[in-house]
Amino acid sequence: MLKARFATGIALLAISATGCALAASPRRNVVVPAEPTMIDYVDPATVAGLSVGAVTMGDSPSDLKVHISYPLLPDAPALTHALRRQAQQQLRDFLRRTKGPASYPRPELNVDWQLPAASSDVTGVRLRTGQRLGTSWGNSMRTLWFDPHTGTTVGSTALLKGKPELERLTSMVKDGLRDRGSQIKQDSVRPDDDVLDSMAFNRSGDLVVEFDDCQLGPCSLGRLAVAVPRAQATPLLSDLGRRAQASVLRTAAAPTLSGPPATPRRPPDLVTGRDRGVDCAKTKCVALTFDDGPGPYTGELLDVLRKQDTRATFFVLGANAAAQPQILRRMGAEGHLVESHSWSHRDLSMQGSSMVAGSLRDTSAILSVVTGQTSQLVRPPYGAVSKQLMSIAYRMGLSLVTWDVNARDDNGGDPRDIAGRVVRQAHPGAIILMHDIHRHSVDAVPDIITRLRAKGYTFVTVPELYGAAGMQAGRLYGSGSELPGKRPLT
Ligand code: NI
Repeated sequence: MLKARFATGIALLAISATGCALAASPRRNVVVPAEPTMIDYVDPATVAGLSVGAVTMGDSPSDLKVHISYPLLPDAPALTHALRRQAQQQLRDFLRRTKGPASYPRPELNVDWQLPAASSDVTGVRLRTGQRLGTSWGNSMRTLWFDPHTGTTVGSTALLKGKPELERLTSMVKDGLRDRGSQIKQDSVRPDDDVLDSMAFNRSGDLVVEFDDCQLGPCSLGRLAVAVPRAQATPLLSDLGRRAQASVLRTAAAPTLSGPPATPRRPPDLVTGRDRGVDCAKTKCVALTFDDGPGPYTGELLDVLRKQDTRATFFVLGANAAAQPQILRRMGAEGHLVESHSWSHRDLSMQGSSMVAGSLRDTSAILSVVTGQTSQLVRPPYGAVSKQLMSIAYRMGLSLVTWDVNARDDNGGDPRDIAGRVVRQAHPGAIILMHDIHRHSVDAVPDIITRLRAKGYTFVTVPELYGAAGMQAGRLYGSGSELPGKRPLT
């Protein structure tokens, strides 16, 4: 997928991030005049039964930062299989690329996704892969299509009838790129599966062909994509392609489903321990925290927590929250605290200020709309903090929360080992890091609760650890047993 070296890619990053936010933003009923190569994505919250899978590395001591997420659709096992296989392949490629003593300091791989189409006729999944090697960040895109009629997952070229149509499309794309200047390497536009690997339709039914950063010329060219007008594209389409186009047109014509946003309010009883009758200065308290979700096992975890009458703090990704608002509402209704873990799990200590602010603002907005609560906390992805991030968090009224007990549950493992690690390290004021996107993590929770309770611990949310002193915006909290803000920046 990643076809060339990367230098800047900032222009594409900004455009793509806006596109992503538009699809799932609480402001999604606002129709923005579209640039023809922009794709309107399906709101994933409208796709019944959708959940999110992920492959991750980096919260435990590791030189690598990896977060690959992909949608899980209940009626498309072949799609899930293809996306999982692709995620594992991307991880392997990344590990190979970054291996060796001369490699880059803490390289990062981040894959997020959107749905260009989702109906009973066809589902499209656009994967956006961001990679940081050294100081450069670059994006590449790939769009896969699932055909429920045949139960198969295919690449973007399957939207076309065959080789002659692919060749005709290639020359149309070349024509479309001509006015972008002489720096474009026309020869790089070939009728290959690997070159034309990200195609979808805009809301007018035009076929949008997009390229990776730096694929067709200098990275300074920014995003390169061509919209082939509907009238010219339609005769080239396969049956699958026509269904995909029709599905997009139907979605574009349908009224948007955005109800009035809930009025944000401060959580009434979660700010200090006193409100719940728990004083963590006198009681042995610990805070269970779950990152990266909600995921496919979060519902089961909520069942466990309810059964054990235990409250937790969930640091959710904005993208996942937008896709699964129901489960966030359940978290709030059952007394858990739902807070931010950024939009898509990029290392915020390495991003420009506008990207950081956008990621935090969009996540707070979706949490506010879904839960009716104002965000107070952010857990920075990978626990990575910078002075810039702290000052942005300060301006946005957010406290930064890391952890002092790491379940180290992101690489598989036996639930008994995970529970053992947590119970051994637990101490009064502990902030315990876990991930509700893994089966083995959720399986470890009943044991953790039983054993810590037997040792006299009370489970509280993170702000309750700090009691009446509360938590201040822009400060870093890594443990309920130390003074805030004293930890060195990571
Ligand atoms: Ni995380």
